[in-house]
Amino acid sequence: MKKQVLSCIQPTGEMHLGNYFGAVKNYVDLQSEYNCIYGVVDYHAMTMPYDAKKLRLNTWDLIISLMAVGVKPENLFIQSLIPEHTELGWIFGCMASYGEMTRMTQFKDKSLKVKEESKDSFISAGLFTYPVLQAADILIYKADYVPVGKDQTQHLELSRNIAQRFNSQFKTEYFVLPEILYTETPKIASTADPTRKMSKSAGEKHWIGVFADEKRMTKQIKSAVTDAGDMPFNQETGKREMSAGVTNLLQLLKACGKAKEHDEIVDLYHEGSLRYGDLKGIVAEAIVEMTTPFRERKAELLADKKAVKNQIKASSAEIRKTAQQTLREVKEITGLLNVKA
Ligand code: AMP
Ligand code: TRP
Repeated sequence: MKKQVLSCIQPTGEMHLGNYFGAVKNYVDLQSEYNCIYGVVDYHAMTMPYDAKKLRLNTWDLIISLMAVGVKPENLFIQSLIPEHTELGWIFGCMASYGEMTRMTQFKDKSLKVKEESKDSFISAGLFTYPVLQAADILIYKADYVPVGKDQTQHLELSRNIAQRFNSQFKTEYFVLPEILYTETPKIASTADPTRKMSKSAGEKHWIGVFADEKRMTKQIKSAVTDAGDMPFNQETGKREMSAGVTNLLQLLKACGKAKEHDEIVDLYHEGSLRYGDLKGIVAEAIVEMTTPFRERKAELLADKKAVKNQIKASSAEIRKTAQQTLREVKEITGLLNVKA
């Protein structure tokens, strides 16, 4: 039997190349080998200050973007269409310890961000308990593998702990302990400042949208920070070291499926004959080439939004059946009542 893969992504705005190469490309590729379910987690997006209208728009935009890059609609769900996630989240909240929750580094980072950015510094309890809901997202489908970035390691550890605690408290083997699947490109850097990761929170020039227009994309790559050609030689290898900016551009090229070009350019670099202007041109071309079909597909999907909405409501209803079954069984095990249908 095929193993179960699950991952989720928050609808917090446009998809960028960091999200695509760090997470979403993997979602697409895994579909040929595993049973896959991918969620757009709108309940999670409520944990930080947000705008109600934008949340709904972002949710559909992310669904359409995921479909445009190749995620199959039947594998997609919207979290708020499956309320069993929050119900299981409550049960798990009673199985995670307060001490464990206070050790979550993402809570510390995000609450600091709220304090810095908003006047009233309101930090919700939802932000604090968010990893418990994440555990419910994963365990409700008995996921074997969860493709995520390195920043999610601690949350996955919590999911495993909750599963294990549940199993031992109720003397059962009910929950599967999920494992992380890391991607080949866990970190894409900002082209404007290659010392930091590509991210929307850093500002406009620090991220390149997957669906951005060709000209803007090309301009952003052409103005990427590289170095002045004065990198030192490595004593051990005798080769010239590579700056973070050049490394990032080469990583992008390889991620676009241009491994051969990547290797040739690395050779040119070590011969000392690589012109950075040429490198940027090749990378920009590769990114435009890779994303053009995505832009076209997105435009088609946007032209019939109604069809997309119906498709995703149907897929969510189908996926919900598994969640409902799990919840019925969990209620049996934990001493809660089930209303017979
Ligand atoms: P976020 O929008 O930060 O919540 O990220 C959504 C997904 O994209 C997560 O799985 C992240 O690990 C991944 N991701 C975000 N930014 C990057 C980046 N610059 N490089 C690689 N992966 C990223
Ligand atoms: N916490 C994840 C993030 O910030 C999103 C997420 C929510 C998730 N539930 C999940 C990821 C379940 C994997 C599995 O990116």
